[in-house]
Amino acid sequence: MQNIKEQLEQALKSATTAEQVEQIRIDFLGRKGSITLLAKNADFSKMSVDEKKNFGRNLNELKQFATQEITKAAEACKAATVHRKSNDLDLTAPGKGRRLGALHPITLVQMELEDIFQGMGFSVVYGPEIESEYFCFEALNIPHDHPARDMQDTFWLKNQLILRTHTSANQVRTLKRFGAPIRAIFPGRCFRYEAIDPSHENTFYQCEGVVVDKDISVANLVAIMRVTLSQVFKRDVKVRLRPGYFPFVEPGFELDLNCLLCGGKGCPTCKNSGWIELIPCGLIHPEVLRHGGIDPKEYSGFAFGVGLTRLAMMKFGITDIRYMNCGDLRVNEQFSTLM
Ligand code: DAH
Repeated sequence: MQNIKEQLEQALKSATTAEQVEQIRIDFLGRKGSITLLAKNADFSKMSVDEKKNFGRNLNELKQFATQEITKAAEACKAATVHRKSNDLDLTAPGKGRRLGALHPITLVQMELEDIFQGMGFSVVYGPEIESEYFCFEALNIPHDHPARDMQDTFWLKNQLILRTHTSANQVRTLKRFGAPIRAIFPGRCFRYEAIDPSHENTFYQCEGVVVDKDISVANLVAIMRVTLSQVFKRDVKVRLRPGYFPFVEPGFELDLNCLLCGGKGCPTCKNSGWIELIPCGLIHPEVLRHGGIDPKEYSGFAFGVGLTRLAMMKFGITDIRYMNCGDLRVNEQFSTLM
C-alpha cells in the first residue's frame, strides 16, 4: 500500500492535463486499477481478525486519499486550462468567422453623391416617403387630370396620402422651408405601381437636386452635371442636352452621358447611339417656384432627378434591378471594396 501511495503521488506530480489525471484515476481506482486489485487479490483466509481489520482500514484510507488527490489534481488542471485560455485571449484580434456588414451599392453611390454635392455647397435634405398628393403632383404643376400622372401610378393611402413616386416631391417642401437662394439635393426611396422586370421595380431610389438663385441658367445646370458625373465615374465625361418634357420644368431636358464604354462610337450598351440617357432636368417652372413661395421674377433655378438605383447599376455593372431589393447579403459584400 505504501508503494502504491508513492507511485500515485509520483504520477500526479508529473500530470499536467485533465486527460493525464483521468488516466491516473483509471490506473489506480478503475476496475483493474492497482488499488482495486489490491482488495480483490487479498487472501483474507490467511489473515487474523486484527490483520483483516488493519488491512480494511488502511485500504479505505488509501482509497480516500487517492480519490481526494486525484480530484484535487483534476481541478487544478481545469483551472490551469481556463487561466491559459484567458491569457491567450487577444481582444484586439479580428473576429473569427463572423461576417462583417457591408454597405448596399445604392447606399455607396448615395454617400458618394452626397459628398460630391456637399463639396459644391449643396445641403442634403431628406423628405418623407409617405407624401401628400399636393407635393408629389399638384405643386409640381401636375394637376388631377394631367396625363403625366399616368406615368407615375403609385400606392394610395388614406387622406390623400401616397407613397412618393419621385424625389421631386421634396422640391416645393424644401423651397417653402428654406426659401431662396438655395442649393440642395434630396436622395431617397420612391415607389411606383410597376410590373417588375430586369429594369423596373416598385421600389427604387432617386437623388433630386435644385439650385435657386439670381440669374441661374442652363449653363449652370450643364456645368454642375458635368462636374458631378466626372467625379462619379472618375474621369472627364461629355454630356449633351436633348429636349424633354416634364410639367415642372421649362425648358425641360434629357441629359445624356457620352458612352463610357465606346467613347461615343456606338456599342450595345448605348444601343449604338454613342449616348446614354441619364438625368432628366430643366429650369424650374415659374409655377413651381410660386408654390414654393419664391418670386419667379426675382429668382430662377434648375432641377434634376438622378436615378440612384440606375446609377448604381451602371457604376457596378449590375444587370438586373431585382438584385437591389432581394435582401441577399452577397449583393452587398462584393461592392464596398470597390469604392
Ligand atoms: N421626377 C422625374 C421622374 O421621376 C424626374 C425629373 C425630371 C426630375 C425632370 C427633375 C426634372 O428634377 O427637372 O420621372
